[in-house]
Amino acid sequence: MNKKLVGILFLACILVIGASIAPIGLGRLFPGFHNTDFPSNIQPEQICLTWNGDPATSMTIQWRSSPEVDDGILQFRESTKTDMSVTEVIPNKLQLTDSGTRNDPVNNRFSVVLNNLTPETSYDYRVACDGAFSEWRAFTTAPFPAQSFSFVYMGDPQVGLDTWGKLVHEADTRHPDTAFYVVAGDNVNRGNNRDEWDALFHAAGGVFDRKPYVPALGNHDCPGGDRPRLFLELLTLPENGPRELEQERAYSLKYGNALFLVLDSNSDLEAQARWMEEQMNTSLATWKFAVYHHPAYSSAPLRDNVELREKWGVLFDKYHVDMALQGHDHGYLRTRPMRGGKEVASPAEGTIYVVSVSGSKLYDVEQHEYAEKSLERVCTYQIIDIETENQDKLTYRAYDMDGNVRDEFVIVKQKRLQASRIK
Ligand SMILES: [Fe+2]
Ligand SMILES: [Fe+2]
Repeated sequence: MNKKLVGILFLACILVIGASIAPIGLGRLFPGFHNTDFPSNIQPEQICLTWNGDPATSMTIQWRSSPEVDDGILQFRESTKTDMSVTEVIPNKLQLTDSGTRNDPVNNRFSVVLNNLTPETSYDYRVACDGAFSEWRAFTTAPFPAQSFSFVYMGDPQVGLDTWGKLVHEADTRHPDTAFYVVAGDNVNRGNNRDEWDALFHAAGGVFDRKPYVPALGNHDCPGGDRPRLFLELLTLPENGPRELEQERAYSLKYGNALFLVLDSNSDLEAQARWMEEQMNTSLATWKFAVYHHPAYSSAPLRDNVELREKWGVLFDKYHVDMALQGHDHGYLRTRPMRGGKEVASPAEGTIYVVSVSGSKLYDVEQHEYAEKSLERVCTYQIIDIETENQDKLTYRAYDMDGNVRDEFVIVKQKRLQASRIK
């Protein structure tokens, strides 16, 4: 074979290999490399609300831009004020690098914590990068004293974030009065790949910029047991968790007459149990919710979490946690009220544990004795209504993408005299 023919054959091989790689994508051949579908630019984007203070008097707003932007600014005002003057706040700015995101490795992240807001009040806000402002948006602070409210709970978004975004928008359109979104971990599939967080923020755009995002950490948010660097750096969350854990991995929030313990089931369960006990033994909350990823009662075959029941379930029993909002099993399960590992007669005596999934990755569901309701291969969002008028009532409904109610129950509590505000 002459040299010319060898050269032609070599070139042909390169072209064939190149053509076969192209549809797969560089990132899938080399997992350390990935491209984002949503590269940053000089406009403010990924505007997202969280809390790291009291939901009645604070709000946290974060957004991003490309790295050439020098300065950000936030303007806000009470929505109902006829005086159109605004208050301006200079945000914290962090340059976030993810060298694996080949087409957009560096972003600016901006974050503002607003404090001393008025409870149950609507505020308009907009953010800017080098003077280029976003549209005005609005948020509402939590009521004080406690009043009725609703919130959304979702299991793992993780895979299929574009479809997940449709579910979030359906939930928001059908239930516009919900106050915030709780996500029980596995927010993305590879937690330290920024392109996946870009996809999540893009999918939730128009919702998380008006209603705070309250995320728990899943195992996929800390891939391979790594520190969840992007979860911690992208989101400004409460820094009131156990001393033994890096702050923001676990935290508590009080909204209305409810206490939310957002836990990290990847980390030290005992340290969180000690912290949980401190949180609950002084709490006057009417309702207590634990939010975490790995379920104490599994929906999937061949999965169980005895340790979690032993270390956390006993505290849920002792302090009467009303509901445990969980993820990880990619199916739907609602247990009967459980106490000490056994079914009890009513929610007044035990905790109801739910597993759900909001993303497109779905597993088989096993029929367990403790299951009151199981659903296989159904993505759902859950609306939890907390009423305070006349009676303390919780109404829970799980909805599928088409808006069908797939599960529901009600808990009514004896109304008790309580402080006007929970501790
Ligand atoms: Fe998981
Ligand atoms: Fe998951």
